[in-house]
Amino acid sequence: MTELSTEIHKRLTFAIVSHPDAGKTTITEKLLLFGGAIHIAGAVKSGKTGRTTVSDFMKMEQDRGISISTSVMGFEYKNRKINLLDTPGHADFSEDTYRGLSAVDSALMVIDSVKGVEERTRQLCAVCRMRNTPITTFINKLDREGKDPIELLDEVEKELGVRVCPVSWPIGQGRAFKGVLNIPENRIYLFRPGQEQLPSDTISINGLSDPVLDQSVGTSLANRLREDVEIISGVYPPFDREEYMHGTVTPVFFGSALNNFGVRELLDNLISIAPYPTPKESDEREIIPEEPKFTGFVFKIHANMNPRHRDRIAFLRIVSGTFERNKMYYHVRSGKSFRAANPTAFMSQDREIIDEAWPGDIIGLHDTGTFKIGDTLTEGEGINFKGIPSFAPQIFRSIMNADPLKEKQFHKGLNQLAEEGVVQIFSKLHQPNVRILGVVGQLQLEVLQSRLQNEYAADCKYEPVDVTIARWITAADKHILQNFIDANSRRILTDIRGTHIYVTDSEWSLNRVQEKNPGIQFFVTSEMTEPRRQN
Ligand code: G4P
Repeated sequence: MTELSTEIHKRLTFAIVSHPDAGKTTITEKLLLFGGAIHIAGAVKSGKTGRTTVSDFMKMEQDRGISISTSVMGFEYKNRKINLLDTPGHADFSEDTYRGLSAVDSALMVIDSVKGVEERTRQLCAVCRMRNTPITTFINKLDREGKDPIELLDEVEKELGVRVCPVSWPIGQGRAFKGVLNIPENRIYLFRPGQEQLPSDTISINGLSDPVLDQSVGTSLANRLREDVEIISGVYPPFDREEYMHGTVTPVFFGSALNNFGVRELLDNLISIAPYPTPKESDEREIIPEEPKFTGFVFKIHANMNPRHRDRIAFLRIVSGTFERNKMYYHVRSGKSFRAANPTAFMSQDREIIDEAWPGDIIGLHDTGTFKIGDTLTEGEGINFKGIPSFAPQIFRSIMNADPLKEKQFHKGLNQLAEEGVVQIFSKLHQPNVRILGVVGQLQLEVLQSRLQNEYAADCKYEPVDVTIARWITAADKHILQNFIDANSRRILTDIRGTHIYVTDSEWSLNRVQEKNPGIQFFVTSEMTEPRRQN
Protein backbone atom coordinates (compact mmCIF):
# COMPACT_ATOMS: atom_id res chain seq x y z
CA MET A 1 0.00 0.00 0.00
CA THR A 2 1.22 3.49 -0.76
CA GLU A 3 1.22 6.11 1.97
CA LEU A 4 -1.78 7.76 0.29
CA SER A 5 -3.79 4.58 0.28
CA THR A 6 -2.85 3.82 3.92
CA GLU A 7 -4.02 7.27 4.97
CA ILE A 8 -7.27 6.92 3.00
CA HIS A 9 -8.01 3.61 4.70
CA LYS A 10 -7.55 5.21 8.11
CA ARG A 11 -10.20 7.86 7.55
CA LEU A 12 -13.87 7.90 8.53
CA THR A 13 -15.69 11.17 7.88
CA PHE A 14 -19.29 11.41 9.01
CA ALA A 15 -21.95 13.74 10.44
CA ILE A 16 -24.66 13.21 13.02
CA VAL A 17 -28.13 14.19 11.86
CA SER A 18 -30.99 14.56 14.28
CA HIS A 19 -33.82 16.73 15.47
CA PRO A 20 -32.87 19.06 18.35
CA ASP A 21 -32.87 17.28 21.72
CA ALA A 22 -32.64 13.76 20.31
CA GLY A 23 -29.16 13.43 21.85
CA LYS A 24 -26.63 14.54 19.22
CA THR A 25 -24.49 16.53 21.68
CA THR A 26 -24.53 13.71 24.21
CA ILE A 27 -23.42 11.16 21.62
CA THR A 28 -20.75 13.49 20.22
CA GLU A 29 -19.39 13.85 23.69
CA LYS A 30 -19.24 10.10 24.28
CA LEU A 31 -17.53 9.58 20.94
CA LEU A 32 -14.92 12.20 21.80
CA LEU A 33 -14.40 10.59 25.20
CA PHE A 34 -13.70 7.22 23.54
CA GLY A 35 -11.25 8.89 21.20
CA GLY A 36 -9.51 10.58 24.13
CA ALA A 37 -10.21 13.92 22.45
CA ILE A 38 -11.86 15.27 25.59
CA HIS A 39 -11.52 14.06 29.14
CA ILE A 40 -14.53 15.48 30.89
CA ALA A 41 -18.19 15.27 30.17
CA GLY A 42 -19.72 18.67 29.44
CA ALA A 43 -16.91 19.91 27.23
CA VAL A 44 -18.99 19.79 24.09
CA LYS A 45 -22.09 21.15 25.72
CA SER A 46 -20.33 24.39 26.53
CA GLY A 47 -20.10 25.07 22.81
CA LYS A 48 -23.66 24.09 22.13
CA THR A 49 -25.69 26.58 20.18
CA GLY A 50 -29.09 25.46 21.34
CA ARG A 51 -32.12 27.65 21.80
CA THR A 52 -30.32 30.86 21.05
CA THR A 53 -31.46 34.36 20.53
CA VAL A 54 -29.84 36.41 17.85
CA SER A 55 -27.63 38.23 20.32
CA ASP A 56 -26.35 34.94 21.73
CA PHE A 57 -25.73 33.78 18.22
CA MET A 58 -23.71 36.86 17.28
CA LYS A 59 -21.75 36.66 20.49
CA MET A 60 -21.01 33.04 19.92
CA GLU A 61 -20.02 33.62 16.36
CA GLN A 62 -17.60 36.24 17.58
CA ASP A 63 -16.15 33.70 19.91
CA ARG A 64 -14.48 31.90 17.08
CA GLY A 65 -12.79 29.42 19.35
CA ILE A 66 -16.06 27.78 20.18
CA SER A 67 -17.97 27.87 16.94
CA ILE A 68 -15.14 26.90 14.63
CA SER A 69 -13.68 24.14 16.72
CA THR A 70 -17.03 22.48 17.19
CA SER A 71 -17.77 22.57 13.45
CA VAL A 72 -15.39 19.69 12.80
CA MET A 73 -14.05 17.39 15.46
CA GLY A 74 -11.19 15.07 14.63
CA PHE A 75 -10.08 12.24 16.87
CA GLU A 76 -8.26 8.93 16.71
CA TYR A 77 -9.89 5.66 17.67
CA LYS A 78 -8.55 2.14 17.11
CA ASN A 79 -5.90 3.43 14.73
CA ARG A 80 -8.49 5.26 12.62
CA LYS A 81 -8.69 8.99 12.07
CA ILE A 82 -12.28 10.04 12.60
CA ASN A 83 -13.63 13.35 11.30
CA LEU A 84 -16.98 14.18 12.83
CA LEU A 85 -18.82 17.12 11.30
CA ASP A 86 -21.25 19.17 13.29
CA THR A 87 -24.55 19.91 11.61
CA PRO A 88 -26.06 22.90 13.44
CA GLY A 89 -29.54 21.96 14.52
CA HIS A 90 -31.24 24.51 16.73
CA ALA A 91 -31.92 28.12 15.93
CA ASP A 92 -28.79 28.28 13.80
CA PHE A 93 -30.17 25.72 11.37
CA SER A 94 -29.29 27.04 7.94
CA GLU A 95 -28.16 25.97 4.52
CA ASP A 96 -24.79 25.29 6.13
CA THR A 97 -26.39 22.32 7.82
CA TYR A 98 -27.44 20.85 4.49
CA ARG A 99 -24.15 21.68 2.80
CA GLY A 100 -22.11 20.09 5.58
CA LEU A 101 -23.54 16.80 4.41
CA SER A 102 -21.74 17.22 1.06
CA ALA A 103 -18.43 16.91 2.90
CA VAL A 104 -19.09 13.58 4.62
CA ASP A 105 -19.10 10.00 3.40
CA SER A 106 -21.76 8.70 5.77
CA ALA A 107 -24.20 9.87 8.41
CA LEU A 108 -25.36 8.77 11.82
CA MET A 109 -29.05 9.46 12.38
CA VAL A 110 -30.16 9.82 15.99
CA ILE A 111 -33.83 9.36 16.85
CA ASP A 112 -35.45 9.93 20.23
CA SER A 113 -37.35 6.75 21.13
CA VAL A 114 -40.03 8.79 22.86
CA LYS A 115 -40.68 11.21 20.00
CA GLY A 116 -39.89 9.06 16.97
CA VAL A 117 -39.09 10.61 13.60
CA GLU A 118 -39.24 14.43 13.77
CA GLU A 119 -39.20 17.26 11.25
CA ARG A 120 -35.47 18.11 11.17
CA THR A 121 -34.55 14.45 10.87
CA ARG A 122 -36.89 14.20 7.92
CA GLN A 123 -35.29 17.19 6.17
CA LEU A 124 -31.71 16.07 6.81
CA CYS A 125 -32.41 12.47 5.89
CA ALA A 126 -33.91 13.66 2.59
CA VAL A 127 -30.60 15.40 1.81
CA CYS A 128 -28.68 12.20 2.61
CA ARG A 129 -31.06 10.19 0.43
CA MET A 130 -30.57 12.63 -2.43
CA ARG A 131 -26.86 11.83 -2.41
CA ASN A 132 -27.29 8.14 -1.53
CA THR A 133 -25.24 8.76 1.62
CA PRO A 134 -25.06 5.62 3.79
CA ILE A 135 -26.95 6.14 7.05
CA THR A 136 -26.61 4.31 10.37
CA THR A 137 -29.47 4.80 12.84
CA PHE A 138 -29.24 5.05 16.62
CA ILE A 139 -32.51 5.00 18.53
CA ASN A 140 -31.74 6.83 21.75
CA LYS A 141 -33.21 7.21 25.25
CA LEU A 142 -34.24 3.57 25.71
CA ASP A 143 -34.06 4.25 29.46
CA ARG A 144 -37.28 6.24 28.99
CA GLU A 145 -40.77 4.93 28.29
CA GLY A 146 -40.75 5.34 24.54
CA LYS A 147 -42.62 4.08 21.50
CA ASP A 148 -42.70 0.41 20.68
CA PRO A 149 -39.45 -0.51 18.81
CA ILE A 150 -41.32 -2.11 15.90
CA GLU A 151 -43.46 1.00 15.57
CA LEU A 152 -40.29 3.11 15.50
CA LEU A 153 -38.79 1.02 12.72
CA ASP A 154 -42.04 1.34 10.76
CA GLU A 155 -41.87 5.10 11.16
CA VAL A 156 -38.30 5.22 9.86
CA GLU A 157 -39.21 3.14 6.81
CA LYS A 158 -42.39 5.04 5.99
CA GLU A 159 -41.35 8.58 6.80
CA LEU A 160 -37.73 8.52 5.72
CA GLY A 161 -38.02 6.18 2.75
CA VAL A 162 -35.12 3.98 3.81
CA ARG A 163 -35.38 0.30 4.71
CA VAL A 164 -34.18 -0.74 8.16
CA CYS A 165 -32.10 -3.63 9.40
CA PRO A 166 -32.02 -3.94 13.21
CA VAL A 167 -28.54 -4.93 14.39
CA SER A 168 -29.40 -4.69 18.07
CA TRP A 169 -32.74 -5.20 19.77
CA PRO A 170 -33.88 -3.76 23.11
CA ILE A 171 -34.76 -5.95 26.06
CA GLY A 172 -37.47 -3.99 27.86
CA GLN A 173 -37.78 -0.21 27.85
CA GLY A 174 -37.92 2.66 30.30
CA ARG A 175 -37.57 1.50 33.87
CA ALA A 176 -37.60 -2.12 32.71
CA PHE A 177 -34.77 -1.57 30.21
CA LYS A 178 -32.32 -4.43 30.72
CA GLY A 179 -30.05 -4.06 27.71
CA VAL A 180 -29.85 -5.13 24.09
CA LEU A 181 -29.32 -8.28 22.12
CA ASN A 182 -26.70 -7.82 19.45
CA ILE A 183 -28.27 -9.98 16.78
CA PRO A 184 -25.26 -10.89 14.57
CA GLU A 185 -22.99 -11.37 17.61
CA ASN A 186 -25.58 -13.38 19.54
CA ARG A 187 -24.50 -11.47 22.60
CA ILE A 188 -26.42 -9.64 25.32
CA TYR A 189 -25.21 -6.24 26.49
CA LEU A 190 -26.57 -5.61 29.95
CA PHE A 191 -27.67 -2.14 30.98
CA ARG A 192 -26.70 -0.65 34.34
CA PRO A 193 -28.25 2.83 34.64
CA GLY A 194 -25.81 5.61 35.36
CA GLN A 195 -22.78 3.34 35.09
CA GLU A 196 -20.08 2.85 32.54
CA GLN A 197 -20.60 -0.45 30.78
CA LEU A 198 -17.88 -2.99 31.62
CA PRO A 199 -16.69 -5.92 29.49
CA SER A 200 -18.19 -8.21 32.13
CA ASP A 201 -21.60 -6.70 31.37
CA THR A 202 -21.82 -8.63 28.13
CA ILE A 203 -22.97 -12.24 27.93
CA SER A 204 -22.66 -14.56 24.96
CA ILE A 205 -25.69 -16.73 24.46
CA ASN A 206 -26.06 -19.93 22.61
CA GLY A 207 -29.17 -19.08 20.65
CA LEU A 208 -32.32 -17.50 22.07
CA SER A 209 -33.34 -20.70 23.85
CA ASP A 210 -30.25 -20.47 26.07
CA PRO A 211 -31.46 -20.42 29.73
CA VAL A 212 -28.68 -17.90 30.45
CA LEU A 213 -30.96 -15.38 28.76
CA ASP A 214 -33.74 -16.01 31.30
CA GLN A 215 -31.28 -15.85 34.18
CA SER A 216 -29.87 -12.52 32.98
CA VAL A 217 -33.05 -10.58 32.15
CA GLY A 218 -35.90 -12.60 33.68
CA THR A 219 -38.24 -15.04 31.94
CA SER A 220 -40.89 -12.53 30.96
CA LEU A 221 -38.48 -10.20 29.11
CA ALA A 222 -36.59 -13.19 27.70
CA ASN A 223 -39.83 -14.52 26.20
CA ARG A 224 -40.77 -11.11 24.84
CA LEU A 225 -37.32 -10.91 23.21
CA ARG A 226 -37.79 -14.36 21.65
CA GLU A 227 -41.12 -13.25 20.17
CA ASP A 228 -39.73 -9.94 18.94
CA VAL A 229 -36.72 -11.54 17.28
CA GLU A 230 -38.93 -14.09 15.57
CA ILE A 231 -41.08 -11.31 14.17
CA ILE A 232 -38.21 -9.09 13.05
CA SER A 233 -36.22 -11.92 11.50
CA GLY A 234 -39.26 -12.71 9.36
CA VAL A 235 -39.78 -9.08 8.36
CA TYR A 236 -36.32 -7.61 7.89
CA PRO A 237 -33.73 -9.27 5.66
CA PRO A 238 -30.17 -9.67 7.00
CA PHE A 239 -27.82 -6.69 6.74
CA ASP A 240 -26.58 -6.15 3.20
CA ARG A 241 -23.57 -3.84 2.99
CA GLU A 242 -24.09 -3.12 -0.72
CA GLU A 243 -27.54 -1.76 0.04
CA TYR A 244 -26.20 0.24 2.97
CA MET A 245 -23.53 1.75 0.72
CA HIS A 246 -26.26 2.84 -1.69
CA GLY A 247 -28.14 4.48 1.16
CA THR A 248 -31.19 2.26 0.73
CA VAL A 249 -30.85 0.26 3.98
CA THR A 250 -29.93 1.60 7.39
CA PRO A 251 -28.59 -0.62 10.19
CA VAL A 252 -30.38 0.26 13.44
CA PHE A 253 -28.98 0.28 16.98
CA PHE A 254 -30.80 0.92 20.23
CA GLY A 255 -29.24 2.48 23.32
CA SER A 256 -29.02 5.34 25.75
CA ALA A 257 -26.40 7.96 25.01
CA LEU A 258 -26.77 9.62 28.38
CA ASN A 259 -25.88 6.35 30.07
CA ASN A 260 -23.16 5.69 27.52
CA PHE A 261 -24.98 2.53 26.58
CA GLY A 262 -24.61 1.30 23.02
CA VAL A 263 -22.44 4.17 21.82
CA ARG A 264 -19.17 2.25 21.74
CA GLU A 265 -20.77 -0.62 19.79
CA LEU A 266 -22.13 1.98 17.41
CA LEU A 267 -18.68 3.47 16.82
CA ASP A 268 -17.13 0.01 16.40
CA ASN A 269 -19.79 -0.79 13.85
CA LEU A 270 -19.24 2.47 11.98
CA ILE A 271 -15.56 1.64 11.80
CA SER A 272 -16.24 -1.74 10.29
CA ILE A 273 -19.00 -0.85 7.81
CA ALA A 274 -18.94 2.89 7.04
CA PRO A 275 -17.26 3.85 3.77
CA TYR A 276 -13.71 5.11 3.46
CA PRO A 277 -13.45 8.48 1.72
CA THR A 278 -15.59 8.05 -1.37
CA PRO A 279 -15.12 9.25 -4.97
CA LYS A 280 -16.83 12.55 -5.80
CA GLU A 281 -18.50 13.63 -8.99
CA SER A 282 -17.14 16.65 -10.86
CA ASP A 283 -18.53 18.30 -13.98
CA GLU A 284 -15.83 16.57 -16.05
CA ARG A 285 -15.33 13.17 -14.44
CA GLU A 286 -15.45 11.24 -11.19
CA ILE A 287 -12.46 11.92 -8.93
CA ILE A 288 -11.25 9.01 -6.83
CA PRO A 289 -9.41 9.55 -3.54
CA GLU A 290 -6.41 7.42 -4.63
CA GLU A 291 -5.52 9.82 -7.46
CA PRO A 292 -2.10 11.19 -6.50
CA LYS A 293 -2.98 14.76 -7.46
CA PHE A 294 -4.69 16.81 -4.80
CA THR A 295 -8.27 18.05 -5.29
CA GLY A 296 -10.75 19.48 -2.79
CA PHE A 297 -13.78 21.73 -2.47
CA VAL A 298 -14.99 24.48 -0.16
CA PHE A 299 -18.33 23.67 1.49
CA LYS A 300 -18.51 26.26 4.25
CA ILE A 301 -17.16 29.72 4.92
CA HIS A 302 -16.97 31.02 8.42
CA ALA A 303 -16.77 34.77 8.77
CA ASN A 304 -14.94 36.59 11.44
CA MET A 305 -17.59 38.72 13.05
CA ASN A 306 -15.15 41.42 14.01
CA PRO A 307 -15.81 44.21 11.49
CA ARG A 308 -12.20 45.33 11.60
CA HIS A 309 -10.99 41.96 10.34
CA ARG A 310 -12.89 40.85 7.31
CA ASP A 311 -10.94 37.61 7.12
CA ARG A 312 -12.69 34.29 7.02
CA ILE A 313 -12.05 30.59 7.32
CA ALA A 314 -12.92 28.43 4.33
CA PHE A 315 -13.61 24.80 5.16
CA LEU A 316 -12.17 22.52 2.50
CA ARG A 317 -12.90 18.83 2.11
CA ILE A 318 -10.02 16.92 0.53
CA VAL A 319 -11.22 14.57 -2.20
CA SER A 320 -8.01 13.13 -3.68
CA GLY A 321 -4.22 13.14 -3.30
CA THR A 322 -2.14 14.76 -0.59
CA PHE A 323 -2.63 18.37 0.42
CA GLU A 324 0.61 20.14 1.34
CA ARG A 325 1.12 23.36 3.21
CA ASN A 326 2.76 26.17 1.19
CA LYS A 327 2.29 24.38 -2.14
CA MET A 328 0.78 26.36 -5.04
CA TYR A 329 -2.68 25.14 -6.00
CA TYR A 330 -5.06 26.13 -8.77
CA HIS A 331 -8.22 27.96 -7.77
CA VAL A 332 -10.46 26.87 -10.62
CA ARG A 333 -13.11 29.62 -10.55
CA SER A 334 -10.64 32.54 -10.68
CA GLY A 335 -7.91 30.72 -12.62
CA LYS A 336 -5.42 32.05 -10.05
CA SER A 337 -2.90 30.31 -7.81
CA PHE A 338 -3.53 29.81 -4.13
CA ARG A 339 -1.00 28.96 -1.46
CA ALA A 340 -2.01 28.04 2.10
CA ALA A 341 0.60 29.23 4.58
CA ASN A 342 -1.30 28.23 7.71
CA PRO A 343 -3.83 25.51 6.95
CA THR A 344 -5.48 24.21 10.08
CA ALA A 345 -6.82 20.84 11.10
CA PHE A 346 -9.53 20.46 13.70
CA MET A 347 -8.19 17.85 16.10
CA SER A 348 -10.09 17.33 19.33
CA GLN A 349 -11.33 20.77 20.31
CA ASP A 350 -8.33 22.71 19.08
CA ARG A 351 -7.14 24.01 15.82
CA GLU A 352 -3.60 23.23 14.83
CA ILE A 353 -1.50 24.10 11.81
CA ILE A 354 -0.81 21.09 9.64
CA ASP A 355 1.77 20.31 6.94
CA GLU A 356 -0.22 17.62 5.16
CA ALA A 357 -3.77 16.38 4.91
CA TRP A 358 -5.43 13.47 3.15
CA PRO A 359 -8.71 12.50 1.45
CA GLY A 360 -11.56 12.57 3.94
CA ASP A 361 -9.90 15.34 5.96
CA ILE A 362 -11.43 18.76 6.42
CA ILE A 363 -9.05 21.66 6.74
CA GLY A 364 -9.48 25.35 7.43
CA LEU A 365 -7.96 27.84 5.00
CA HIS A 366 -7.43 31.42 6.04
CA ASP A 367 -9.34 33.44 3.45
CA THR A 368 -9.34 37.13 2.65
CA GLY A 369 -12.16 36.89 0.11
CA THR A 370 -10.77 34.37 -2.38
CA PHE A 371 -13.32 31.64 -1.80
CA LYS A 372 -16.99 31.10 -2.49
CA ILE A 373 -18.94 28.07 -1.40
CA GLY A 374 -18.51 25.29 -3.95
CA ASP A 375 -15.05 26.44 -5.13
CA THR A 376 -12.62 23.74 -6.23
CA LEU A 377 -8.84 23.64 -5.66
CA THR A 378 -6.66 21.34 -7.80
CA GLU A 379 -3.09 20.89 -9.00
CA GLY A 380 -4.04 22.44 -12.35
CA GLU A 381 -7.03 20.52 -13.72
CA GLY A 382 -10.08 22.67 -14.51
CA ILE A 383 -12.77 20.64 -12.79
CA ASN A 384 -15.64 21.71 -10.55
CA PHE A 385 -17.08 19.43 -7.92
CA LYS A 386 -20.81 18.81 -7.96
CA GLY A 387 -22.97 18.18 -4.97
CA ILE A 388 -22.67 21.51 -3.16
CA PRO A 389 -25.87 23.04 -4.51
CA SER A 390 -28.21 25.63 -3.10
CA PHE A 391 -31.26 24.09 -1.47
CA ALA A 392 -34.78 25.38 -1.88
CA PRO A 393 -35.36 27.82 0.99
CA GLN A 394 -38.52 27.65 3.06
CA ILE A 395 -38.71 31.23 4.29
CA PHE A 396 -38.94 34.15 1.86
CA ARG A 397 -38.96 37.94 2.28
CA SER A 398 -38.57 40.84 -0.04
CA ILE A 399 -35.62 42.92 1.11
CA MET A 400 -35.09 46.67 0.75
CA ASN A 401 -32.42 49.13 1.60
CA ALA A 402 -33.52 50.98 4.75
CA ASP A 403 -31.08 53.88 4.49
CA PRO A 404 -31.03 55.78 1.16
CA LEU A 405 -27.57 57.19 1.92
CA LYS A 406 -26.12 53.70 2.19
CA GLU A 407 -27.34 52.22 -1.08
CA LYS A 408 -23.86 51.13 -2.21
CA GLN A 409 -22.92 49.52 1.10
CA PHE A 410 -26.27 47.74 1.17
CA HIS A 411 -25.77 46.08 -2.22
CA LYS A 412 -22.13 45.22 -1.55
CA GLY A 413 -22.95 43.66 1.83
CA LEU A 414 -25.96 41.78 0.50
CA ASN A 415 -23.97 40.30 -2.39
CA GLN A 416 -21.00 39.33 -0.23
CA LEU A 417 -23.14 37.72 2.43
CA ALA A 418 -25.05 35.80 -0.23
CA GLU A 419 -21.73 34.53 -1.60
CA GLU A 420 -20.83 33.37 1.87
CA GLY A 421 -24.06 31.39 1.94
CA VAL A 422 -25.83 33.32 4.71
CA VAL A 423 -28.89 33.84 2.48
CA GLN A 424 -29.91 33.23 -1.12
CA ILE A 425 -30.91 36.19 -3.27
CA PHE A 426 -33.42 36.01 -6.10
CA SER A 427 -34.85 38.59 -8.48
CA LYS A 428 -38.35 38.80 -9.88
CA LEU A 429 -38.39 37.95 -13.58
CA HIS A 430 -40.09 41.13 -14.72
CA GLN A 431 -38.94 43.37 -11.90
CA PRO A 432 -35.24 42.56 -11.53
CA ASN A 433 -34.87 45.35 -8.97
CA VAL A 434 -37.13 43.55 -6.52
CA ARG A 435 -34.82 41.35 -4.46
CA ILE A 436 -36.30 38.34 -2.72
CA LEU A 437 -34.38 36.59 0.02
CA GLY A 438 -34.64 32.93 0.79
CA VAL A 439 -33.39 31.13 3.92
CA VAL A 440 -34.03 27.76 5.53
CA GLY A 441 -33.88 29.03 9.12
CA GLN A 442 -35.59 32.13 10.55
CA LEU A 443 -32.48 33.23 12.43
CA GLN A 444 -30.61 33.82 9.18
CA LEU A 445 -32.83 36.86 8.51
CA GLU A 446 -31.74 38.41 11.78
CA VAL A 447 -28.12 37.41 11.25
CA LEU A 448 -28.17 39.08 7.82
CA GLN A 449 -29.57 42.32 9.22
CA SER A 450 -27.07 42.43 12.09
CA ARG A 451 -24.16 41.67 9.82
CA LEU A 452 -25.20 44.36 7.32
CA GLN A 453 -25.27 46.83 10.20
CA ASN A 454 -22.04 45.74 11.86
CA GLU A 455 -19.84 44.96 8.90
CA TYR A 456 -21.17 47.20 6.13
CA ALA A 457 -22.78 50.09 8.05
CA ALA A 458 -25.92 49.39 6.02
CA ASP A 459 -29.45 48.55 7.03
CA CYS A 460 -32.31 46.62 5.51
CA LYS A 461 -36.01 46.05 5.97
CA TYR A 462 -38.06 43.01 5.10
CA GLU A 463 -41.57 42.62 3.75
CA PRO A 464 -43.57 39.42 3.59
CA VAL A 465 -44.16 37.71 0.24
CA ASP A 466 -46.68 35.00 -0.60
CA VAL A 467 -44.03 32.36 -1.26
CA THR A 468 -43.21 29.29 0.82
CA ILE A 469 -42.05 26.82 -1.82
CA ALA A 470 -39.43 27.19 -4.54
CA ARG A 471 -38.28 24.78 -7.24
CA TRP A 472 -35.55 25.16 -9.82
CA ILE A 473 -37.03 24.38 -13.22
CA THR A 474 -35.78 23.04 -16.53
CA ALA A 475 -37.14 21.13 -19.54
CA ALA A 476 -35.67 18.97 -22.27
CA ASP A 477 -37.51 21.12 -24.81
CA LYS A 478 -36.47 24.79 -24.47
CA HIS A 479 -39.73 25.99 -26.10
CA ILE A 480 -41.78 24.21 -23.48
CA LEU A 481 -39.66 25.86 -20.79
CA GLN A 482 -40.07 29.32 -22.34
CA ASN A 483 -43.84 28.85 -22.73
CA PHE A 484 -44.10 27.81 -19.09
CA ILE A 485 -42.06 30.83 -17.97
CA ASP A 486 -44.19 33.19 -20.07
CA ALA A 487 -47.44 31.71 -18.81
CA ASN A 488 -46.33 31.86 -15.14
CA SER A 489 -44.13 34.96 -15.19
CA ARG A 490 -45.55 36.31 -11.93
CA ARG A 491 -44.34 33.17 -10.20
CA ILE A 492 -40.86 33.03 -11.70
CA LEU A 493 -37.70 34.23 -9.97
CA THR A 494 -34.10 34.02 -11.12
CA ASP A 495 -31.16 33.09 -8.90
CA ILE A 496 -27.69 34.68 -8.99
CA ARG A 497 -26.70 32.41 -11.87
CA GLY A 498 -29.77 33.50 -13.84
CA THR A 499 -31.46 30.10 -13.47
CA HIS A 500 -35.25 30.12 -13.34
CA ILE A 501 -37.18 29.17 -10.23
CA TYR A 502 -40.88 28.57 -9.89
CA VAL A 503 -42.36 29.76 -6.59
CA THR A 504 -45.72 29.19 -4.98
CA ASP A 505 -47.42 29.17 -1.60
CA SER A 506 -48.61 25.60 -1.10
CA GLU A 507 -47.69 21.98 -1.81
CA TRP A 508 -51.15 21.59 -3.28
CA SER A 509 -50.65 24.26 -5.93
CA LEU A 510 -47.15 22.96 -6.71
CA ASN A 511 -48.60 19.48 -7.30
CA ARG A 512 -51.26 20.89 -9.60
CA VAL A 513 -48.73 22.83 -11.66
CA GLN A 514 -46.54 19.74 -11.90
CA GLU A 515 -49.46 17.62 -13.08
CA LYS A 516 -50.47 20.18 -15.69
CA ASN A 517 -46.91 20.60 -17.00
CA PRO A 518 -45.37 17.14 -17.43
CA GLY A 519 -42.67 18.54 -19.75
CA ILE A 520 -41.19 20.66 -16.95
CA GLN A 521 -38.85 19.20 -14.35
CA PHE A 522 -38.91 20.69 -10.84
CA PHE A 523 -35.90 20.34 -8.51
CA VAL A 524 -35.30 21.11 -4.84
CA THR A 525 -31.65 21.94 -5.45
CA SER A 526 -29.93 24.30 -7.86
CA GLU A 527 -27.91 21.46 -9.33
CA MET A 528 -31.02 20.04 -10.97
CA THR A 529 -29.80 16.45 -11.06
CA GLU A 530 -31.46 13.21 -10.10
CA PRO A 531 -30.00 11.21 -7.19
CA ARG A 532 -26.95 9.19 -8.19
CA ARG A 533 -26.02 5.70 -7.10
CA GLN A 534 -22.64 5.47 -5.43
CA ASN A 535 -20.33 2.47 -5.76
P1 G4P B 1 -29.18 17.53 20.96
O1 G4P B 1 -27.72 17.83 20.90
O2 G4P B 1 -29.61 16.54 19.92
O3 G4P B 1 -30.04 18.73 21.00
O4 G4P B 1 -29.49 16.75 22.33
P2 G4P B 1 -28.68 16.63 23.68
O5 G4P B 1 -27.55 15.68 23.53
O6 G4P B 1 -28.37 17.99 24.20
O7 G4P B 1 -29.78 15.94 24.57
C1 G4P B 1 -31.02 16.57 24.84
C2 G4P B 1 -31.50 16.16 26.22
O8 G4P B 1 -31.71 14.74 26.23
C3 G4P B 1 -30.48 16.44 27.32
O9 G4P B 1 -31.21 16.73 28.48
C4 G4P B 1 -29.79 15.11 27.48
O10 G4P B 1 -29.23 14.94 28.76
C5 G4P B 1 -30.95 14.16 27.26
N1 G4P B 1 -30.51 12.82 26.83
C6 G4P B 1 -29.60 12.49 25.89
N2 G4P B 1 -29.48 11.14 25.79
C7 G4P B 1 -30.34 10.61 26.67
C8 G4P B 1 -30.68 9.28 27.07
O11 G4P B 1 -30.13 8.30 26.57
N3 G4P B 1 -31.63 9.15 28.03
C9 G4P B 1 -32.25 10.21 28.61
N4 G4P B 1 -33.16 9.96 29.54
N5 G4P B 1 -31.95 11.49 28.30
C10 G4P B 1 -31.01 11.69 27.35
P3 G4P B 1 -31.42 18.21 29.00
O12 G4P B 1 -32.16 18.11 30.27
O13 G4P B 1 -32.03 19.04 27.89
O14 G4P B 1 -29.97 18.75 29.14
P4 G4P B 1 -28.96 18.49 30.34
O15 G4P B 1 -29.48 19.33 31.42
O16 G4P B 1 -29.00 17.02 30.65
O17 G4P B 1 -27.67 18.95 29.78
